[in-house]
Amino acid sequence: MLKSKSSYLLFYFFISVFWVANSNLSVSESQLSKLMRFMANDFKSIKTKINANEKLPEYQKKYKKIISAKASADSKKGEHYLEYAELFLKQYDRFYSSEKAIQKKEFNNLVSTCIRCHESYCPGPLTMIKKLKISP
Ligand code: HEC
Repeated sequence: MLKSKSSYLLFYFFISVFWVANSNLSVSESQLSKLMRFMANDFKSIKTKINANEKLPEYQKKYKKIISAKASADSKKGEHYLEYAELFLKQYDRFYSSEKAIQKKEFNNLVSTCIRCHESYCPGPLTMIKKLKISP
């Protein structure tokens, strides 16, 4: 009797451990995913501001982390990832220092650098990213 009670306890203990481990896994997202989601929202807001001829949202230093942030799988940061990341960062700076007259063009070029990396490493959000472009 005592023996079966303690094995029940043991059984429930392991079930809870698995449950907790699993629920943690399903809510955790990679550092890179988190950064990307922030970027996607920020870029939607940049697009709105440009179209409304309003002041741009703040420049984000944290985008430099695109280089070091951990992805959900190593394969998502393949051979040319670093090149694409540097192109993106270079164009991000260029866009923020551009004259108003060419802001739209520089923004669309910036979105193209998102697209280039995504075509190689993460095609899922491409449709959404392409919609960020501003029609002339
Ligand atoms: C240098 C490559 C690169 C650039 C540039 C890049 N991305 Fe990503 N993006 C990725 C990778 C890789 C993932 C997958 C991350 C993971 O699974 O951990 C990703 C994931 C995403 C996701 C899905 C996040 C999620 O998990 O829900 C969105 C949305 C996204 N990117 C939007 C953008 C936007 C918008 C830009 C430009 C402003 C951009 N990305 C620029 C490589 C890039």
